[in-house]
Amino acid sequence: MSKTSIRTLRARQILDSRGRPTVEVDVELEDGTEGRASVPSGASTGAAEAHELRDGDKSRYEGRGVLQAVAHVNDEIAARLRGSDAMQQNAIDATLLELDGTPQLKRLGANAILGSSLAICRAAAASARQPLYQRIAELSDTARLTMPMPMVNILSGGLHAGRGMDVQDFLAIPASAQSINEAIHLISRVRSAATEVMQRRGLSTLLADEGGLSPGFETGREALQLMVEATEHAGLQPGKDIVIAIDVAASSLKGPNGTYRLAREGRNVTSEDMIAMLEAWVSEFPIISIEDGLDEEDWAGWEKLSARLGGKVRLIGDDLFTTNLGRVRRGIEAGIANGVLVKVNQNGSLSGTLAVIAASRAAAYAPVVSARSGETEDSFIADLAVGSAAGQIKIGSVRCSDRLSKYNQLLRIEEQSRAEFAGMSAITLKN
Ligand code: PGA
Ligand code: ZN
Repeated sequence: MSKTSIRTLRARQILDSRGRPTVEVDVELEDGTEGRASVPSGASTGAAEAHELRDGDKSRYEGRGVLQAVAHVNDEIAARLRGSDAMQQNAIDATLLELDGTPQLKRLGANAILGSSLAICRAAAASARQPLYQRIAELSDTARLTMPMPMVNILSGGLHAGRGMDVQDFLAIPASAQSINEAIHLISRVRSAATEVMQRRGLSTLLADEGGLSPGFETGREALQLMVEATEHAGLQPGKDIVIAIDVAASSLKGPNGTYRLAREGRNVTSEDMIAMLEAWVSEFPIISIEDGLDEEDWAGWEKLSARLGGKVRLIGDDLFTTNLGRVRRGIEAGIANGVLVKVNQNGSLSGTLAVIAASRAAAYAPVVSARSGETEDSFIADLAVGSAAGQIKIGSVRCSDRLSKYNQLLRIEEQSRAEFAGMSAITLKN
């Protein structure tokens, strides 16, 4: 028994930004230090994600309760980890995966396992009197701290906005920013300008799940035009100060016979049509990053998409890769995509997530640390992005405390750590 041995592990059910239950875990070490973490939850989830265990009891929170996952932490996981050294994160995570014993963490639940994994990392940092990002840097393959370039949701569609638009995210990247502080300021100007432009046009400015706006346009082109208009209205230059990223979340657009359903346009299109549409957008607008342009199982389409656009823009796999080392490796071998969205709860443990970031970076696939559409006030991913030197972060809009807890933590880290800002270097293709 050492002072960093785990004394207690306790979980509870709390509510996330959509008012849905999620798991929060508290850890206490023998030296009295504590760590707390909570687990995010997606809406446009990938089929290969680690399993989120929900109670299914329709009389409570529409079946979304997580009391079984909570009980697994309080009983099995606490019993197994009591006395384990919190400084041995890899060993702890390996024990958790082994204890579950299923590939997708279906037995104990990835929410139970991830909550424990993250809380233990926080407790270890507290015990060593280290900032969390420093502890994560020690666990990563890089010792260099890096402030990430944010890609920030301005307009929302898909499952985050009642399918008001077919494409899920239209995001702004503050290309001319030299610090995270300036990056957030530039984005904030664009976000406010977008509200003004929409108000002028009589469009609703109510918030979508990630704090973005949802003008409900029928076509992606109209949304891209609004992105440009908002940038200009903010007194900034599109393509220079602000560049555009999109997340099509194409796995949520499944149509009949392998087609894609563009419901707002009222048509079904082929994989080839989707690629042609994206190509047209890239030639017309300053788009430098496209996430999930095609379905998670359309690997043949992804090959074509990568051949056509991979030399020009970042092609990010979210549902495609689900922060799963096997799927990322398969993608790298096939030369599919050139970027990886990194979501801790898709993977299920901190060590597993860091392994995905390391493998991505080694293959020059840009890692983008990302929040989920359902978030809590936990700012863990801000420290994760800095400590792992991922280079990019995707949190949602600069609205709502579940999003701002992360942006505000980045501001604190920048002030405290003096870590270098990645800027566009994390995104620019080096070929
Ligand atoms: P999700 O969406 O958290 O609902 O999966 C985020 C994303 O698709 O990037
Ligand atoms: Zn996505």
